[in-house]
Amino acid sequence: MKHLHSMTQLTNKEIEHIIHTAKSIENKQLSPNYSGRFAANIFLEPSTRTKHSFYMAERRLGLEVVDLEEKDSSLIKGESLYDTLKTLEALGTEIAIVRQSQNGLIKQITEQLGMSVINAGDGTGEHPTQSLLDLFTIKDEFGTFEGLSVVIAGDIKHSRVARSNAYALKNLGADVKFVAKPEWQDKTISDKYISIDEAVEECDVLMLLRIQHERHRDPFQSSQYLEDFGLTIEREGRMKRSSIILHPAPVNRGVEISASLVESEKSRIFKQMTNGVTIRMALLHLLLEEGI
Ligand code: CP
Repeated sequence: MKHLHSMTQLTNKEIEHIIHTAKSIENKQLSPNYSGRFAANIFLEPSTRTKHSFYMAERRLGLEVVDLEEKDSSLIKGESLYDTLKTLEALGTEIAIVRQSQNGLIKQITEQLGMSVINAGDGTGEHPTQSLLDLFTIKDEFGTFEGLSVVIAGDIKHSRVARSNAYALKNLGADVKFVAKPEWQDKTISDKYISIDEAVEECDVLMLLRIQHERHRDPFQSSQYLEDFGLTIEREGRMKRSSIILHPAPVNRGVEISASLVESEKSRIFKQMTNGVTIRMALLHLLLEEGI
């Protein structure tokens, strides 16, 4: 495999191999070094975690990093993303990380590229490296996916994180259910929707999602959302002792989750970010060196 655009490309065995490689990097049993080789980061939609997590991963692997800013590049003159990638390839870049707003574009334009490309989020399509870091975090916590109750709650319809995770977690044997306002449900992902009150009592993993205001046509008033669909302190008190809270972030404190729960005992939100660097190191290593 040369490019990663979707979790549907990965078998369970390949996902386990990426997680195992990340664990070996975390334990310092594996220290790949790509000194003198080049990666490029192209983020055409805003990002804090994914962009800087990839940067940290690349630098920890010794890679040189080309950070292509849309406003300073010929993309602004109308050059296509494909020609931009061909150019970076001609200059000597071996792998590119791309975030942009068009669903499925990465798959379409990478077939004729020699360099590798990783999808860092394509519109409402997929976010495979977020899914991999979530899976790494769950595996670390529970040691398995088989039989785990995972509930993904929030703006499912507009969430690339929900799409990537729903596919992967179901294949890995988890029981995946969803919580969403009726207009944010997406039956192409699942028809297993439950209430937030049912969710907190049955889940091992509660994955909360941000409301994707930027992808809505009509403005959404969020004042009642926490009470109706969010994780309040009262609801957190009804969760199983061993259960954990995930969120890809950025978090809207006080909207999908009570502000103080973001850093509570059950929260693995900042651990997810740390794991994001390690899993991206593993993925970069596998794509550059061994193949997945
Ligand atoms: N989780 C995530 O993709 O965050 P950013 O949008 O900040 O990269």
